[in-house]
Amino acid sequence: MLKKIFELRQAAYAYQPGENVFDSISFDVVAGESVAVLGANGSGKSTLLKMLCGLLHSQAGSFKAFGEAISEELLEDDRFAQRFHRRVGFIFQSSDVQLFTSRVEDEIAFGPSQLGLTEQEVKRRTADILKMLDIGHLRDRPPYRLSGGEKRKVALAAVLILNPEVLILDEPGAGLDPKSQRWLTHLLLELNRRGRTIILSTHNLEMAHTITRRSLVLSEDHRLVFDGPTQQVLSDRALLSRVNLIDEFTHEHDENRHIHLYTHG
Ligand SMILES: Nc1ncnc2c1ncn2[C@@H]1O[C@H](COP(=O)(O)OP(=O)(O)OP(=O)(O)O)[C@@H](O)[C@H]1O
Ligand SMILES: [Mg+2]
Repeated sequence: MLKKIFELRQAAYAYQPGENVFDSISFDVVAGESVAVLGANGSGKSTLLKMLCGLLHSQAGSFKAFGEAISEELLEDDRFAQRFHRRVGFIFQSSDVQLFTSRVEDEIAFGPSQLGLTEQEVKRRTADILKMLDIGHLRDRPPYRLSGGEKRKVALAAVLILNPEVLILDEPGAGLDPKSQRWLTHLLLELNRRGRTIILSTHNLEMAHTITRRSLVLSEDHRLVFDGPTQQVLSDRALLSRVNLIDEFTHEHDENRHIHLYTHG
């Protein structure tokens, strides 16, 4: 039987009372899936991902992770929260809110050093991940002085070192150069192949296409308007245009009628 990772049922969230982002959103994610959350700016992608990783709490309905009902009280329990965050790794849209030490190596070693591993083991794992992400040359630098893409890699390293079962990534490709994007795509595909569950938000339809099999599409008024195969949504121009993921206009040259497509991000 497929193991359920997340079960969101009629969940709702409002940053301000009376101004709901979501009224009632429901879906499941099972182990080993690769899911894209697609939607225009402000459609609710980050809000939804933060609900899944326990940073925001649904104010209605229910939320289960790994078969267990997750409440705000439960996540306030340090031991539970630590266990949960080891299983569910989250990469924020902005790395600035994620990085908090004054040295890249310490940033990456922080998670494993909380797990009661020996200093030697923490050092070994940190060295491995620095090498894997090709950021060894940044090891002594303060994270806040890195470029956007370098920060993102450090944030990724700090999460990957814990080898979480589920990786939730908020616009992981944004701000990366083409080579780094390609490298990230390969990495995520490989992690998924090895059984990790991947959920990512993006405006980049190419990335969604390459990495994910399933897409959740949010409309600009924060409704889940599609939940199905990524292949299917990418060929549905009317839907993509309706949710503002492509901008389409037609014009004519002589007898030829062209359709120009612009994708966001
Ligand atoms: N901290 C906040 N306080 C109040 N409203 C917020 C806050 N964060 C987001 N919102 C609102 O919630 C809605 C969803 O925002 P969210 O950040 O989830 O969108 P998004 O799809 O991630 O957008 P983007 O593509 O720009 O990252 C938007 O209307 C936004 O204005
Ligand atoms: Mg966002």
